[in-house]
Amino acid sequence: MLRHFINLRDWSKEDLLELLERAVRLKAAYKRGEIYQPLKGKTLAMIFEKASTRTRVSFEVGMYQLGGQALNINSQTSQLGRGETYADTAKVLSHYVNAIMLRTFKQSNLVEMAAAASVPVINGLSDLLHPCQVLADLLTIQEYKGNLAKLKIVWLGDSNNMSNTWLEAAMIFGFELVLAIPESFKVSADLWQRVMAGHYANITINHSAEEAVRGADVLYADTWISMGQEELEAAAKKAILRPFQINSSLLERADVKAIVLHCLPAHREEEITSVVIDGPQSRVFDQAENRLHLQKALLEKLISVN
Ligand code: CP
Ligand code: NVA
Repeated sequence: MLRHFINLRDWSKEDLLELLERAVRLKAAYKRGEIYQPLKGKTLAMIFEKASTRTRVSFEVGMYQLGGQALNINSQTSQLGRGETYADTAKVLSHYVNAIMLRTFKQSNLVEMAAAASVPVINGLSDLLHPCQVLADLLTIQEYKGNLAKLKIVWLGDSNNMSNTWLEAAMIFGFELVLAIPESFKVSADLWQRVMAGHYANITINHSAEEAVRGADVLYADTWISMGQEELEAAAKKAILRPFQINSSLLERADVKAIVLHCLPAHREEEITSVVIDGPQSRVFDQAENRLHLQKALLEKLISVN
C-alpha cells in the first residue's frame, strides 16, 4: 500500500512506535559497523525550497548507507521555480525515483504532491509541520528519559511548524505537553480545534515560562524567526519572546534531571544560551544525530514496501 509521511496524524501510534523501535535497531547496527543495504538501486528525490543542513545531509547519507542514492533538487534550478505544478512534478518524478522528500512553504504543496505521486512523499518541513524532526526528537527523549507517556515536555517560544508537530505528537502519544508561548501568539486554529474536540487534558498552554517548566522532563527550544518569516517584525517579535529563552535560571526551575532539546539551527543567546546548549543537560547534538537513524527507518519502511 502506498503510504506518505506528510504529517504524524495519518500514522497510528503503533506504526510510529514501530518506526522508533526500528530506528533504535538500525542505529545500534550502524554503531557496530554493520553494512545493511536493503535499498540498493533505489533513489530518493529531495526537493528543497528552503535552506537545510541536517535534513539534506541526513537524508542523503541515510539513503547512501541503505545502499541507495539521493538527488538534491531545488526550486531555482528545477521547473518548479518556473511554475510547473507540484502534481505534474510528482507524476514525472514517480517514474524515475522511489520516494520524494519535499521541504516547502505551504502544507498544501505536500498534499498536492502526495495526491499525484505513485511513490511515497515525505515532509521535510513545511510552514505547518516538521514530522521527521519530532520523530527523531521522540527517539532522543526515549533514549534519555524512557517511557514517553510519563513525561512532561515543555515547548518554549514561537507558535510554529515545530510546536504544531508537538501538538500532533502529544495527541497520539499522550505525554504531558505544555506550550509556553506569549499571550499574543495564536496556535493553529485547526490543530487547536482538534485538541479541544478530543478533550486532550495532557495538552495545555501557559504564558509564563517560569511556571510552565516546573517539574519538566524536557525543555524544547526553536528559532524565534522561522524560515520564510524573516521579513516580518523580527525585532519586535524577539522582544516579546525574550522571557521564553532557555537559560540557566529557567533550567534550574525544571526537574533536576531535565534534558534540553533544540531542533537547530540555534540562534545562540536568543532562544537558548550557549551555557545551556553546550551544558551537561543538553542533548541537542545527539538529537541532530538521531535524524539520520530515524529517517533510515522511515525510508526503509516507505520504500521497501512499495
Ligand atoms: N532541524 C532541521 O530540520 O535542520 P535543517 O533546517 O538544517 O534541515
Ligand atoms: N521553525 C524552524 C524549524 C527549523 C528546523 C523553521 O521553520 O525555520
